[in-house]
Amino acid sequence: MRSHAWLKVNELAQKSSSLKSAPHLSGDSVRDLYDALAVNYDADTRRNDYDVWVAMYQRLISRYGAPGNRLVDLGSGTGKAAIRFAASGYAVTGVDISPEMLRIAQARPGAERVRFAVADLRRLPDLGEFDVAVALGEPFDYLRNEEELGGALRGVANLLAPGGLLVFDINTHGHYERFSRTLSVDEREDMLMIWRGSRPARDGKGADLRVDRFATDDGTTWRRSAELHSWSYFAPPTVSRLLLATGYAELHTYGLFDGELNASVDEQRDRKRIVVARKPEPPR
Ligand SMILES: C[S@@+](CC[C@H](N)C(=O)[O-])C[C@H]1O[C@@H](n2cnc3c(N)ncnc32)[C@H](O)[C@@H]1O
Repeated sequence: MRSHAWLKVNELAQKSSSLKSAPHLSGDSVRDLYDALAVNYDADTRRNDYDVWVAMYQRLISRYGAPGNRLVDLGSGTGKAAIRFAASGYAVTGVDISPEMLRIAQARPGAERVRFAVADLRRLPDLGEFDVAVALGEPFDYLRNEEELGGALRGVANLLAPGGLLVFDINTHGHYERFSRTLSVDEREDMLMIWRGSRPARDGKGADLRVDRFATDDGTTWRRSAELHSWSYFAPPTVSRLLLATGYAELHTYGLFDGELNASVDEQRDRKRIVVARKPEPPR
């Protein structure tokens, strides 16, 4: 049975939809999307446990080894992971397409230990050389097709030192199937969000997420805005092929289920895959 709170939210959504001034649907590009939602990102992701995520990535880095401690965090967002990596001794550069996300990152305690740079993963500039590259929290899933993912992998390979390690997460097929049926509400005192997942019109793979956000300063007047996230699906053989084509040796792909890393992947059950690859040393 639906809760009373949900019914009220649903009515509110229907009323707002019929208002003359339709809500602005940002999402023309990932940069616009994240610039618009940046001020809310930390509150929206308040339940994510970055200590656990960063510790998991660090365990993988230690397990496979890296030539040094220069780390680039790809799609670093508001810096929650980047700052934790820096606190545990890495020399960190955080890269993101959204200047607003990075503005918030730079205001975080500990940000002075991180270098932040605005850059697009699809066209990475020369940011120096790194021993480790990480991408956590799904930045690669925002890339629209194989060409873009291949471009990103190639760009990262150009930044890695010989023997450098790449660790990234990517969503599973099962996650998208479940997520595309999501309808949920996140309620805070001054904000109410409706999350609606769907299959993307683009290719029927991956998932779209529309977030309708109602915010208030005084509890009386509510402003509505909307965001559209579009995630692509990259199957395991596609990722393996692109890694090979862009010069990596794939070391291992883990499955992530219920927060636990598993040595084998269950593409239906698992939430994500965690891919570990290396830029090989040139032959002597
Ligand atoms: C879900 S957020 C994750 C942020 C951060 N890694 C975390 O875990 O909190 C995805 C991030 O990827 C960034 N992103 C998406 N596409 C990108 C691209 N092509 N180039 C650079 N950053 C990108 C977004 O701006 C956003 O900050």
